[in-house]
Amino acid sequence: MRRLWSSLSVVSAAVLVAGQFTLAGSSPAGATPPVAKPSPPAAYPADSLRALADRVGLRIGTAVNADVLGVDAKYTQITADQFSSVTPENAMKWAEVEATRGTYTWEKAQDLVDFAKEHKQLVRGHTLVWHNQLPAWLSSDGYTTTLSNDEVKAVLKKHIFDEVRQFKGDIWQWDVVNEAFDDNGQPRQTIWYKAWGGTGYIADAFRWARQADPRALLFYNDYNLEFTGAKSDAVYAMVKSLQAQRVPIQGVGFQGHLSTQYGYPDLSNNLERFAALGLKVALTEVDVRTATKADAVNEPVDALAPYAQESYWSRTLQACLAVRACISFTPWGFGDAYSWVPGWFKDPQEGAALIYDEQLNPKGQYDVLQQDLALASGAPHRYGRGIGH
Ligand code: XIL
Repeated sequence: MRRLWSSLSVVSAAVLVAGQFTLAGSSPAGATPPVAKPSPPAAYPADSLRALADRVGLRIGTAVNADVLGVDAKYTQITADQFSSVTPENAMKWAEVEATRGTYTWEKAQDLVDFAKEHKQLVRGHTLVWHNQLPAWLSSDGYTTTLSNDEVKAVLKKHIFDEVRQFKGDIWQWDVVNEAFDDNGQPRQTIWYKAWGGTGYIADAFRWARQADPRALLFYNDYNLEFTGAKSDAVYAMVKSLQAQRVPIQGVGFQGHLSTQYGYPDLSNNLERFAALGLKVALTEVDVRTATKADAVNEPVDALAPYAQESYWSRTLQACLAVRACISFTPWGFGDAYSWVPGWFKDPQEGAALIYDEQLNPKGQYDVLQQDLALASGAPHRYGRGIGH
């Protein structure tokens, strides 16, 4: 496109129409003719998930593996073509950015932020306060530390200010606090909980993040909020209490790590009740895993499982589409070969959780998302697999 533009730039601006170029402004007679500004080329396929999602004002995202982006050409192309938002799968986590106390390594995260700018994508920052993937100098398990309570408080404050300022203006949504409650709806007794003597760290974290970047949307993010029950209720009560204290929280992220073995959750009702608090909501880490073979971790045991998975994907996306406050839908990666699922869920073995297969070819799960977006936007649907794959 760059080469095309330089050869076209000498052509009279007036003849360049139909979306390729826009006029910078009209000029009075006799003045220098208006300069034609190149408008961005159609950088992604018209049948891509992002193009279709654009038409309904939804951002469709993906978690991005920083070690694969820019290395695997097909992976990189799909990331750019299909998604309008990106989340660093690991690159912004504390263990990655400050493995050595006081020494920051922002490069991988910065590379993704730069990639996102180049491809007109928004970035979900993930995540500031969590009990997992902490640097060894701070905690090996998230529940114990050799630091004093005062030191723990001081390092969390510094971490939030330093990281949020580092990417200030470049982050659309920050997952400020991740997974603070357990499955019984009890606050996790993490190093944060212990240092504060309760959940007060959550309000502090949001206030510090707001001071460090006044514009990012600040999210609480967790899994199993999709299911009505003690955990979802506890988070709902916590959010209400934060709002009552005027803590700057704008959104709740539903991770959406689903498995066909647990049934489809009560997602719509839960999205709606959190949205009714005046919050944005988002699907932040969707994958739909199923029982797979031990020696072929992305091959379902049940040959019919992919149909159930398609249904889960479709209903999850539709639940988001049906709630105006649901601003983004992010699968946790897109290719089965790079998914965290097979390495994490081994008893029983689960996998095949994403929308592209191990060779990065789109699966039926991709097709249902594409068709749902097309239907929602009124575009012609039932695309064949043509351009873009
Ligand atoms: C996972 C990553 O996908 C893995 O690569 C990593 O080894 C562990 O963390 N909830 C979250 C994500 O909020 O950050 C987790 O990501 C998945 C569960």
